[in-house]
Amino acid sequence: MSRKRIAAANWKMNTNLQEGEELLTQLVNKKLDRSTDIIVCAPFTHLASLCKQVNGNDQVKIAAQNMSDHDKGAYTGEVSAAMLLSVGVTHVVIGHSERREYFNESDELLGRKLKKAIENNITPIFCCGEQLSIRKEGNHIKHVISQLTRSFSGCSKDDLKELIIAYEPIWAIGTGETASPEQAEEMQLEIRKFLSNAYDQELADTTPILYGGSVKPGNAKDIFSKPNVDGGLVGGASLNAEGFSIIVNSF
Ligand code: PGA
Repeated sequence: MSRKRIAAANWKMNTNLQEGEELLTQLVNKKLDRSTDIIVCAPFTHLASLCKQVNGNDQVKIAAQNMSDHDKGAYTGEVSAAMLLSVGVTHVVIGHSERREYFNESDELLGRKLKKAIENNITPIFCCGEQLSIRKEGNHIKHVISQLTRSFSGCSKDDLKELIIAYEPIWAIGTGETASPEQAEEMQLEIRKFLSNAYDQELADTTPILYGGSVKPGNAKDIFSKPNVDGGLVGGASLNAEGFSIIVNSF
């Protein structure tokens, strides 16, 4: 079963607009393996401009890093799905651990955001992952599957047909500590089993599942070589075009 290979760059709250435009220009000018889809997850302020920059480029897509669960109205500071669509955004990150932790985003809220993205035909990149304490207790699989179960409740198989999942163990994010390729593979396989049990084998076989957490030019090949790892969600190492292009070419 061949699935899409994806390298997603999560810039987080880094770069001003000019730096972001320059970083994207540098990236698209690199030699990039055409069989890898590239998704750049940029700050809200950059989205309209970056979407124009990649207009007509069928390899590079632009994602928001968050989105409101409401359609419109008195929600100061929020950005809606329709607003993202209106500037050409095609993907959105939902449930990054930094949103869960610093902004108290619950599985239920993330489920509503997921539904909203699906309703608006924006492809969700749904993140899940466990804290170090949970892994040490040996409850990491249970924890991640419970995050998915709670947020996907109410979603049909058809709703999830464009879904991308990113497994990001929190202890490996921005810490320089990567999950071993075996630890990544173990969880990715469990996530696939969950999709198969909750929906069916076809959804399990076709959903791209990314790994995130200190993916670097030096370790991407090993991680991506695992059968259930379809790519990476890359934070720190995506802020350098040369390094990220090496990751894109690491499949
Ligand atoms: P990192 O971040 O690559 O800097 O660990 C990954 C992420 O948080 O998406």
